Amino acid sequence: MDWNEQLTHFRQRKLFDLKYGTDTANNLMKPEFKPVPNLEHGKHYMASWTKEVIHSYQFAKNLLGPSFGSYQFIDLGCGKGKACLVWRLQCLKDNIKQDVLGVDYYPPFIDIARANTKKIFGDLGHFLATGAETINYHSFECPLILYLYNPFDAVILAKVLDKLLEIPVLVIYNIPSHRTTLIHYGYKLVYVKQGDNQNEDTQIFISPNLQIKHLDIVV
Ligand SMILES: C[S@@+](CC[C@H](N)C(=O)[O-])C[C@H]1O[C@@H](n2cnc3c(N)ncnc32)[C@H](O)[C@@H]1O
Repeated sequence: MDWNEQLTHFRQRKLFDLKYGTDTANNLMKPEFKPVPNLEHGKHYMASWTKEVIHSYQFAKNLLGPSFGSYQFIDLGCGKGKACLVWRLQCLKDNIKQDVLGVDYYPPFIDIARANTKKIFGDLGHFLATGAETINYHSFECPLILYLYNPFDAVILAKVLDKLLEIPVLVIYNIPSHRTTLIHYGYKLVYVKQGDNQNEDTQIFISPNLQIKHLDIVV
């Protein structure tokens, strides 16, 4: 990493841990994972950039308006919980009650995510140690905001999308490597943001059955 990249890494990852005493910034590369089902389809662990989560939160809140709080937020591939923590902090700041769930197939991450949540909020939060492709999304009985920071390949993404049929969903996709799969399932692109670094590339999609009044597409 050159000097500029190190500074950005510090600002967008390490600073959060320094401020809150959490453990999110250290990467874990694929060869270092112990075996779990579908490991071959997953990506390695890196924490979302703080400002990227805040930006997506603000876009989703403005787009969904007063119904925002009634959506279930789920970070698919939550790792050590960074996006859940930042999202929940934003909700707290705005006095919005929204359920925030993190899901990861690698159990050691879920333990860390719970410990991180305890440090900031004094509770263990909502986390599940399981594959995103195993979840019964209909059981939430409400519309969903799915947050994906490049967690897995198109095989798992398609399995997840198969399970979402008929549920109104907003998908926030940071580093949208498999965006064509979403398009294939009829998802509509409503927001595109690009930066110099791939961590600043975010696209936001809505499912075909998500009704939004006054949709101004920002692409
Ligand atoms: C790039 S990290 C994202 C971390 C976190 N979402 C964040 O924003 O800080 C990708 C994560 O996806 C997880 N993952 C990969 N495949 C998965 C699957 N099938 N189900 C659940 N989690 C998965 C990995 O364990 C890893 O923690």
